[in-house]
Amino acid sequence: MVEKVISDFVVHGLSSIVIYPNPYRSKASEFSWETQEKLDYSIASRDGKICWIGKAEALSESVKLTSDAEVISGRGLSAVPGFVDSHTHLVYAGDRSAEFEMRVQGRKYLDILASGGGILKTVSAVRSMSEDELFHESKERAWKMIESGVTTLEIKSGYGLDLENEIKILKVVKRLAEDLPIRIIPTFMGAHAVPAEYRENSDKFVEMICRKWIPAIADSKLAKFNDVFTENKAFNVEQSRLILESGKKSGLIPKIHADEINVIGGVDLAVEIGAASADHLLKTGSDGIKKLAGSGVIPTLLPGTSTFLMESHHASAREMIEAGLPVAIASDMNPGSCQFYSASMIQTLAMLQLRMSASEALIAATLHSAHSLQVGNMTGSIETGKSMDLVLIEAGSFRQIGYRAGDNIVNMVIAKGIPVFSQ
Ligand code: NIG
Ligand code: FE
Repeated sequence: MVEKVISDFVVHGLSSIVIYPNPYRSKASEFSWETQEKLDYSIASRDGKICWIGKAEALSESVKLTSDAEVISGRGLSAVPGFVDSHTHLVYAGDRSAEFEMRVQGRKYLDILASGGGILKTVSAVRSMSEDELFHESKERAWKMIESGVTTLEIKSGYGLDLENEIKILKVVKRLAEDLPIRIIPTFMGAHAVPAEYRENSDKFVEMICRKWIPAIADSKLAKFNDVFTENKAFNVEQSRLILESGKKSGLIPKIHADEINVIGGVDLAVEIGAASADHLLKTGSDGIKKLAGSGVIPTLLPGTSTFLMESHHASAREMIEAGLPVAIASDMNPGSCQFYSASMIQTLAMLQLRMSASEALIAATLHSAHSLQVGNMTGSIETGKSMDLVLIEAGSFRQIGYRAGDNIVNMVIAKGIPVFSQ
């Protein structure tokens, strides 16, 4: 007799489950999906980790429930892995709608930044807000993302641009991680823009980040990753290298905003330094894609941003996928260049703007994103041993996620084995 697995939480009555067969580094277009629509599936977990997946009829002979187990009906919904939003600037204050309209009328994003607006406008708003206020505002925003199916969320600092305010933001991120039921991953991004105080001497600003800020942030364990905006009018390659190298020495894993507006060598640096991911890559051409292939750097594409910036050209997702790259997608949710935050909307945009298939978009928003945050061993797919992070959708197939744009088909969100949202 086979021993039963012990479970304290079961979802039964699901019409389909998305299971990635042999996922990481496979071409998403080659996936076969073990979704068997209309079949009555169950998923069981214990202590927040998936312990059994199977047909409901086999449940009683395979799973022994604890006395306080919660058993819920999936009501014919479909289960997909909880969405992983691996790139956001969610902790911010203020509003940039005037800049949005200016851009619609033709002003350029980097010109607005260079004249003291853009990111720097948000910096003033953040500096004048208390930690508590910032926490409450950001928490509301985070809940909107959870309601769209996000169960793992990366959040960057970068609107403080002085040590005190960068720490304030990262403390808010820490409080969010303690307060919210999902997994939250903090990234330090002191090199998000050159603050007005250092406009004439950005090297001095970089030196201060490397010498003082990074060791302080690393010591206080407020961040896992260290990100930099490698771009004209932000940080050049040499400055970015110094920042990412210093971070590495202090145990912060490098990430990079590369080729968003101009190609200035961000991809080369990402490969050279072994970044966990290179994000944006809007302007990355065949050369850059060749360099990324086989490098281990995960390309994270942000179709909400290229849409919001009204770019006529979007990232070359097809070429990256053809090159075998495990493309990830994320929202980049921030007050300036992207106000799209719904995880399913980002999948819609990945399909419309990046020409990704529904399955490529889904794996990009889940498993590949999880790997870009180096949590692919614990979330991003429905597998025994991984965290019970699920989105239950009102549809017979995951293919409806991107298609039903503007309609939140997320019926229930389960994070670490706990239903955290339902409608
Ligand atoms: O990823 N490019 C730099 N950082 C953000 C935008 C931040 C902002 O405009 O407030 C981005 O697009
Ligand atoms: Fe960003």
